[in-house]
Amino acid sequence: MTSPLRVVVLVSGAGSNLQALIDAAAGDGAPFRLLAVGADRDGTLGVERAATAGIPTFVCRVPDYLTRADWDLDLERQISAVDPDLVVSAGFMKVLGPAVLGSHRVVNTHPALLPSFPGAHGVRDAMAHGVRVTGCTCHWVDAGVDTGPIIDQRCVRVEDDDTVESLHERIKVVEREMLVDVVRALAADRSWQGD
Ligand code: GRF
Repeated sequence: MTSPLRVVVLVSGAGSNLQALIDAAAGDGAPFRLLAVGADRDGTLGVERAATAGIPTFVCRVPDYLTRADWDLDLERQISAVDPDLVVSAGFMKVLGPAVLGSHRVVNTHPALLPSFPGAHGVRDAMAHGVRVTGCTCHWVDAGVDTGPIIDQRCVRVEDDDTVESLHERIKVVEREMLVDVVRALAADRSWQGD
């Protein structure tokens, strides 16, 4: 049997996507294991969720470094310390730099149907455009903002009375399932590790 995929998760906020991964990784025979959870800010619920689950955590804040490049190098060092197969950016609101991306395969989850509405306000921007269907995307991370190869997408209809918040909450329900399915699939088929 293949050993569980070794995963590090990066978060910036509530960590509900992280929680879905924690739940899916629990128990014997799970196809992946969460080695550590990192955040780019103090006091996130995501880090609290990880600590409650007994997963080691670290915080790596851009303002604590002289340059963004120093931050990138230290983030890479902290990730590499646990030697993961895969890094999952799950609501991590920072663009990753060349040190991290040069050493690790990273997937990201985004609350819109890429390539439409990339960036930090995907839900708001899709609504402002008047789309009737939106959703979420899981993709490999490259040097651009939400530009990497798409792995999976799920659709969500926009309702007439939706607010950005209500729509985002419905997207997140679907997004959590998608993310767990993607990490399970990447654990089951490791052909991407040779890419
Ligand atoms: C998700 O919709 C993610 O795609 C976006 O921010 C949200 C994070 O939610 N970038 P959570 O922290 O996992 O609850």
